[in-house]
Amino acid sequence: MEDKLVAKIKRRIQSGNDIDTPCYVYDRQKILKNIAILKKNFTDIARLYFAVKANTNLTILKLIKDQGIGAEVVSPGEIFICKKAGFKGNEILYNNVARKSEEIYYALKSGVEFFNFESINQAILLEQVAKEMGKCIKVFVRINPGIFPETHPHLSTGSTKSKFGIKMEELSEVLRIIKKFRYAKLVGIHSHIGSQILSPEPFIKASRKVVEAIEFFKKNRIKIDFVNLGGGFGVPYRPEEKDLDFSPIVDCYRQMKQRYNLEVLLEPGRFFVANGGYILTRLIDKKMRNHLPVYMIDAGMTENPRPALYDAYHHIEPLFKYKGRRLKVRVTGPLCENADEFGVFNLPELKIGDYLLIHNSGAYTRTMASTYNGRPLPQEYLIDGGIKLIRKKQSLKELIANE
Ligand code: LLP
Repeated sequence: MEDKLVAKIKRRIQSGNDIDTPCYVYDRQKILKNIAILKKNFTDIARLYFAVKANTNLTILKLIKDQGIGAEVVSPGEIFICKKAGFKGNEILYNNVARKSEEIYYALKSGVEFFNFESINQAILLEQVAKEMGKCIKVFVRINPGIFPETHPHLSTGSTKSKFGIKMEELSEVLRIIKKFRYAKLVGIHSHIGSQILSPEPFIKASRKVVEAIEFFKKNRIKIDFVNLGGGFGVPYRPEEKDLDFSPIVDCYRQMKQRYNLEVLLEPGRFFVANGGYILTRLIDKKMRNHLPVYMIDAGMTENPRPALYDAYHHIEPLFKYKGRRLKVRVTGPLCENADEFGVFNLPELKIGDYLLIHNSGAYTRTMASTYNGRPLPQEYLIDGGIKLIRKKQSLKELIANE
């Protein structure tokens, strides 16, 4: 597929139809393939929701929605975008560690029915606002299962130290208050332990804690009908990394579903889109530093802040094939920041102007991009039959809009 992608970009460049770099390029077929993998594993087990924080491009959201997937959101902004993409209120899960009442109003007005809560205060606020609006909502209590998966510490959300979720010891307090609620009905348990997890064990460990919570409520005569087991499915970023083995997770979730007669929800983000996106960039300068060549490209931490934030590795390859030996080079962006650096790569000798692709750029790149250093947000393309512009580059004027 990658060859087709390269061929399409190549044809476009050779036809004199230059592509302004840096830009994001998404591969429709690859995203569809990722959806097929998730469906193959979880059909008959779980309903899938896309964690839209990974990518909020409307074309991408529509593509995912058309495959029968729901949306997981964390803000009114994401609700607004999802509604524009065509998701109905009842296809949206609204999670967040803490919300303000106006955010809950917005969600209720938009027809959202599923909410999580991660503290007693937040549960009370949900009941209050739902009551004022005269709407009944279904709520999930997010537990903190006390699990630290092997991932970057910034991406771990299930350890006892993290701010997320309710402690298991607080469940009796949850029980006490939800019994008084009339509008916010507790229907489910929610757990999300972190992101970019490449081994099945943490998912299985977390589900044991979810079962503990189900049993707790069962003993107290509250039937739990739903579990939302979160996202977090990792994808290989480094060439030597292996795909996540879904089968133990699938077995575990299936047993849980059958044993407790549950509706299981999952909300992955990265897995849908990470490897379905690239940043197309060009070499704009070369210099030597400390006996190592430095290749400066026109994409940086503004387009992909992940290396700066999480020391993330994003594979970089020239767009076209080059003969000859490869050399160790440092690849950096052009921003006025030392953190604007992608790492050391084995690359062929390249000329200024040559194109490169930054891999795995479909998730958490454009949604975390910034205009730092006065850099407008770049355009986005979708490769399908051809190469289609799906979002224009921000204009310079837009940099000062609202001022
Ligand atoms: N559900 C909840 C409650 C979440 O907080 C997240 C991600 C997801 C689902 C989706 O997780 P995924 O399947 O994408 O791993 N900016 C970071 C990732 C932060 C993820 C935050 N929460 C990165 O660039 O790696």
